[in-house]
Amino acid sequence: MVDRNGWGRGRDDPIGARRRPPPAFVERANAADAERYEAFEENWPDCWERAAALLAWDRAYDTVLEDEDAPFYRWFTGGELNASYNCLDRHLEAGRKNHAAIRWGGKQGESRTYTYRELYVEVNEFAAALRDLGVGEDDVVTLYLPMIPELPVAMLACARIGAPHSVVFAGFSADALATRMNAADSEYLVTCDGYYRRGDAFNQKSKADNARLAVDQGVRTVVVDRLGKELPHVVGDDECDYDAVRDAHAGETVDPVSRDAEDMLFLMYTSGTTGQPKGVVHTTGGYLAYAAWTSHAVLDVKPEDTYWCAADIGWITGHTYIVYGPLALGTTTMMYEGTPDYPDRDRLWELLERNAVDVFYTAPTAIRAFTKWGSQYPERHDLSSLRLLGTVGEPINPRAWEWYHKHVGGGTCPVVDTWWQTETGGVVVSTLPGIDDMKPGAAGPPLPGIDARVVDAAGDEVEAGDAGYLTLQKPWPGMARTLYDGDDRFLDEYWRRFSDPEDDRWVYFSGDAARIDDDGYVTVLGRVDDVITVSGHRLSTMEIESAILDAGGVAEAAVVASTTGAGDGEIYAYVSLERDVDPADAIREAIVSRVERAIGPIARPEEVVFTPELPKTRSGKIMRRLLEDVTNGQELGDTSALRNPEIVGELRATIRGE
Ligand code: PRX
Repeated sequence: MVDRNGWGRGRDDPIGARRRPPPAFVERANAADAERYEAFEENWPDCWERAAALLAWDRAYDTVLEDEDAPFYRWFTGGELNASYNCLDRHLEAGRKNHAAIRWGGKQGESRTYTYRELYVEVNEFAAALRDLGVGEDDVVTLYLPMIPELPVAMLACARIGAPHSVVFAGFSADALATRMNAADSEYLVTCDGYYRRGDAFNQKSKADNARLAVDQGVRTVVVDRLGKELPHVVGDDECDYDAVRDAHAGETVDPVSRDAEDMLFLMYTSGTTGQPKGVVHTTGGYLAYAAWTSHAVLDVKPEDTYWCAADIGWITGHTYIVYGPLALGTTTMMYEGTPDYPDRDRLWELLERNAVDVFYTAPTAIRAFTKWGSQYPERHDLSSLRLLGTVGEPINPRAWEWYHKHVGGGTCPVVDTWWQTETGGVVVSTLPGIDDMKPGAAGPPLPGIDARVVDAAGDEVEAGDAGYLTLQKPWPGMARTLYDGDDRFLDEYWRRFSDPEDDRWVYFSGDAARIDDDGYVTVLGRVDDVITVSGHRLSTMEIESAILDAGGVAEAAVVASTTGAGDGEIYAYVSLERDVDPADAIREAIVSRVERAIGPIARPEEVVFTPELPKTRSGKIMRRLLEDVTNGQELGDTSALRNPEIVGELRATIRGE
């Protein structure tokens, strides 16, 4: 029987029809007991012991949650553990030393596999080398590396000696690296000579060198030789070569340092609503337990799987779901250096087939690209090893969801649409694939133990189906504990807007808009603050705009990301120039190169649109939302607040090339 919502439909489902988890999946699912939601609710916060139980603790924790200093919550207090021990040693002790830990695919078609034992050896040697360089417990080590195995090795080596890492995305510019090193007071850097980008050797070390000139403190640097003769480089006096320092410590082991559950495991800089990136602090116990738990329950990762999260470790997705979650569970995690269409559009599917991947997790922006290229690419590969698919990073529209489900998942793999953020540490909203029905376009219900609610501007919960602000109203173990920049900014960015401290009511504001339907499924609508998502990466409009303003001759600028059409995920910069400055190509070029220098090519505006004025409210605030509508060729939202409505018509004409 088929009802209005499309319940229980079969193979030829219409777009967006609701689907039950396939029985073959449910039979083997890590989480298949529907009572789980109630069990978590009735037993909150002790329910989170289930997550902690996935880890090995050096010292058992005394308390699951301490909330006296809310919203500075503390999880698993009194407990001690080491993340590298949890990701390595205990799997060796369990007799799994020859099991593959990391399978790496390089851009030039190379591949490398590390068994757990091999990874353990390299992590230990590098941990010994870092110590020898002077890295002590709590020293922040910056890792500025592309997707090469030395990146997770360095992360785990830091974790082993209790030094928090701060991974900076390899595509970021020297300026962006320097800002992050200065903000974290980081005196240690691990980088490489260069890496391949679409076949060309690309110099990373020169960016690192430039960054170091702009860093206030002295920096000791380790350089990985990725390119060999392709890109000769000189190792300076205060630098050392990765292989050389490892050789100097060949065969050494380093005892994993017992860390307090609440000690910082890593820092991750992310874009906020101001130009200054936010240093999100994640802890050893809560974060790792949450990474393992969500990998187990949501991504259904099993030790015998080959699991592939096609993200970059330079972002939180890679931290949680390439490195910490899967390695804590002892599975085989894939790591791919290249892009999905180089050298050709079969590359990704070839890798999936060759490695017989069980679980595949990627971003909607990639899926939209696949749909454009066509189903012939996945269809000429045997993808039958796949059991589960996931997406993260942006809303996925039902059409792209259906395509992914059908052409990649063969119509038989559940798809999890996982909503989360750098600050949440791991997934907080998603279906549990062995329990919940899927509704394409809606992420799903909050996970067990998570209290997600949509509220209006006054903080009151809205009716089912109404849009509002997405909040989380109970703490969870993977949550960020603070910002490295200070507790006050942490309160400002996330807590002050909807909390009522008088009443001891603490509400975390995500910065996203959403609606929740009658069944409790959350549909995420996008950011409501000045953060944009470009190719699944989060960038601050302020950061890009201030770079544009630095170009000279620019009076005002506003940037938006396109979300529809051929130019999906591209940045449009709307710029008004100072009087007497002509909108010449030279200024356009100056703007683009300024942004590339300040942030990196990822933030490069695809279009620079000159306009005499930007659309503004009567109080003078730029209406970015209208610019988004213009960029995406959509119906304009409410324009009644506009002071200069005529400008919008002019911009529309420009964009359409009229
Ligand atoms: O706007 C939401 C979007 O990505 C933002 C978080 O970005 P970041 O901290 O870089 O982490 C990305 C990977 C977790 C969110 O505020 N977002 C993430 N997942 C989804 C999403 N939007 C819609 N649906 C999702 N599944």
